[in-house]
Amino acid sequence: MTRGSPESRIQELRRLIRYHNDRYYREDAPEIPDAEYDAMFRELARMEEVHPEFFDPESPTQRVGAAPVDAFGTVVREMPMLSLQNAFGEDELREFDARIRRHLENRGYPGGGRVDPFGYTAEVKIDGLAVELTYEGGRLIRGATRGDGVRGEDVTANLKTISDIPLTIPRSSSAGPVPDVLDVRGEIFMEKNDFTGLNRGRERLGEAAFANPRNAAAGSVRQLDPRVTASRRLRLWVYGIGRIVPGTSVHPPFEPLLFATHMEELDRLAAWGFAVIRDWTRGYLPDEKRHNPADRHYLDDPLDIEGVIAFYREVEAKKDSLPYEIDGIVAKVNELGVQRELGKVARSPRWAIAAKFSPDRAETTVEEIVVSVGRTGTLTPVAILSSVTVRGVKVRRATLHNQDNVDAKDIRVGDRVVVQRAGDVIPEVVESLSAKREERGRGTPFRMPDRCPICGSPVTRVAGEAAHRCTGKNCVARRKESLRHFVSKNAMDIEGLGPKVLSTLVDEGLVAEPADLYRLNRDMLAGLARLGDKSADNLVQAVERSRTPTLGRFLFALGIPHVGEHLSGVLARRFGTIDAIRTAAPEELSAIHEVGPEVARSIREYFDSVEGNLVVDHLLEGKTVEIRPEPATEGIFAGKTFLFTGSLGLPRAKAKEIVRKGGGTVATAISRRVDYLVAGENPGSKLAKAKEMGIRVISEEEFIEGEFGGDG
Ligand code: IVH
Repeated sequence: MTRGSPESRIQELRRLIRYHNDRYYREDAPEIPDAEYDAMFRELARMEEVHPEFFDPESPTQRVGAAPVDAFGTVVREMPMLSLQNAFGEDELREFDARIRRHLENRGYPGGGRVDPFGYTAEVKIDGLAVELTYEGGRLIRGATRGDGVRGEDVTANLKTISDIPLTIPRSSSAGPVPDVLDVRGEIFMEKNDFTGLNRGRERLGEAAFANPRNAAAGSVRQLDPRVTASRRLRLWVYGIGRIVPGTSVHPPFEPLLFATHMEELDRLAAWGFAVIRDWTRGYLPDEKRHNPADRHYLDDPLDIEGVIAFYREVEAKKDSLPYEIDGIVAKVNELGVQRELGKVARSPRWAIAAKFSPDRAETTVEEIVVSVGRTGTLTPVAILSSVTVRGVKVRRATLHNQDNVDAKDIRVGDRVVVQRAGDVIPEVVESLSAKREERGRGTPFRMPDRCPICGSPVTRVAGEAAHRCTGKNCVARRKESLRHFVSKNAMDIEGLGPKVLSTLVDEGLVAEPADLYRLNRDMLAGLARLGDKSADNLVQAVERSRTPTLGRFLFALGIPHVGEHLSGVLARRFGTIDAIRTAAPEELSAIHEVGPEVARSIREYFDSVEGNLVVDHLLEGKTVEIRPEPATEGIFAGKTFLFTGSLGLPRAKAKEIVRKGGGTVATAISRRVDYLVAGENPGSKLAKAKEMGIRVISEEEFIEGEFGGDG
C-alpha cells in the first residue's frame, strides 16, 4: 500500500471516522463539526463504491455509531437499529426518489417507476440520542441506547425517570389491544431553553458546560446515577416501531397488528400515549390545538418528492425559532409493503433519507484582521477569511466584535477558525481551532490601533465598555456610516444611495452631513463615477420623496446610540414633536418604560452636543425636511399575519410592504399564526394546507382592496 493511494486514503478515513465516532457516541464530546464528519463519511462511502476491492465488513460505513461502553449492561437486538443515508440539498432528495423508482422498476414492482405506488411522509430530524424502549405485556421492561445498532447500552433505570416515557401502555385505551412485545424507537432530546439553563447552572458550579443540547441529552442518559438523569429536563419523541409481537393474552382475541403505513404506525403509537415526532409543532402550539387532528403537521398527507422538498425548505427557514434543535428532515416511504420491497443497504434502509440542512458553521482561515469604524465611532475588528460557504452563502468577512472577545478566544491571523451564521445575524468567528490545539508558530496577538485607521484621531476606550471609539468628530468613516444609516430602508428610505455612491459623494466633498443630501441636483450627480443620467434622476427623485418622514423615522435616522427603530416610534408617539424630544429632561425620558438611564443619557448627550444640534437644525432649516406626526400603531392590518403564495401581479416586495405599512406581519411559511393566505396564480401546496387548517384564503384583488375585514 503506497502513501496517497486510494487504499491508504480509505484506511485513513476509516481510522478518522472511528476516532470521531468514539468522541461523539462514547464520550458525548465531539471534536469536529457534524458537517466535517459527514463530509469524511461521504468521501469514504464514495471511495468504497469505486473500489469494491477494499470492502471491509468492519468499515464504519457498514456499521452504526460506536460499540457500547462497558459501564452499562449490553442489550443485544435481533432487529438492529439502523442509520439513515444523508442527502444534502434538494437535488439529492430528487436523486433519492429516482433511485427508489429505478429499484422498484427493476424488481418489477407493480407500478414501478411510472405509476405512483407510494407516497412520502416527512418529519423533522431531532438532534438527540436514539433509544429503544421494550414493552412486554404493556409494561416497560427495558430501555437502551442505539450503540452500534445491534448492541446498545442498557439505560433502563435512567430512562424510567423521564416523564415523557410511559411506564405502562394503558390496556383500556381505545387504541386497540396491547401487543405482547413492543419495541418503540425514538429520540431523547433536551429543549434549547433547558439546555441553556443547565449550562448556566454548571458554569456557576465551575463544571464544564455541554457543547450542545445533543451532548447534554446524551450525557444525561448515559449516567451511572439515575438521580442525575432525573434532575435534567429530558424529552422523548418516537418515530417508529422495532419488533412487534401481537398478543395472545388479550380478550377479545387479538386482531393482528398489521399496519399498512408508517402513518398508521405513528397514529397507533400516539394512541398508546407516546409523543410522536410528527407533532413537531409541540412547544409552540397551545395545548388544545396540539391534540386537534387538524393541527397536526401537514405531512400528515403523504406527498411526492416535491412536497417533501417544500417541507424541507419551510422547516429550514424556521428551524431557529423551534424550541429544540434539528439537523434536517427525514423523508420515509409511507407504505410498509413498499418499504419491505426496498429493504436496506449496509447500515441504512433504502426507503428513508435524512435531508440535512447546510451547516450554520464552517471551518476556514483568517487571512487578515482589519478594523472598521461605525457611525458612532466604534472600532470593530473584522476577520477577512478564506472564502467559505455557510448556510448556502459565501462568507469572506466575519465580525470579531471587540478586543476583549479577540483576547478571550485568542484569535490571530493565520488561525484555523470556526465561523457561524445563525439566523440573519452577521457572520461571526466562534472560536480559533489553532488556539485550542495550541499550534506553534502562530501570528502575533491582535491589538486595536491607538489611532483611527480612517482619520488618524486618537482612539479611546470608555471605562466599563467593551468598545474602542474614534474621537474624531469629523471622522470620514463615521460620517459615511451615519449617512448610510440615515438613508437606509427603515430610516429615511432613500433608494439608490448605496454605500459606494454615498462614499463617492463624501469623498468628492458633495455631502458632509444629512442635510447636504437635499441640496444635490442632477448636474452635481451626473459627473460622478458610476452614476449615469438615469440613475442621477432617480436618485434626485428618491431624495425628494424622503422629505416628509414621520417623526419616528426621522428620529431613528439620526442614529442616536441605543435609539433603535422601535424606541424611535415609542418616543415619537409619546412626545409628538421633535422639539419636545430635543428638550425633554432626563427624568421625562426615563419615565418611559423602554428607556433606561443609559438610554436617556445617550439621547440627552446627542441633543446637547453641538454636532447633534447642527445636524437637526440644518435638516429643519427652510423646511429641508418636514416631519409628519407619527401615525397610531393601529393600521388596517394591525395584529394580522399574512402569507403569500403563487404569482401575484404586485411584486412580492411591494405586497409585503403594504402589509407592514398597515401594521401587519408577513409570514414565510404556513402555520396556525397565519390569518390570511393571499393566493395568486398557480398557488403552491400552501393553498391546500391553508384550507385544511381553516386559514382564510383571499385573492390578490381582495388584498389590494383591503375589504376582507372581520374574522369571517
Ligand atoms: S427514522 C431506519 N426519524 O436519526 C430509520 N430517525 O441518522 C431509523 N432521528 O438513529 C430512523 N429524528 O436517532 C428517524 N424523525 C426521525 C428521526 C430520526 C431523529 C435520528 C435517529 C436515527 C438517526 C439516523
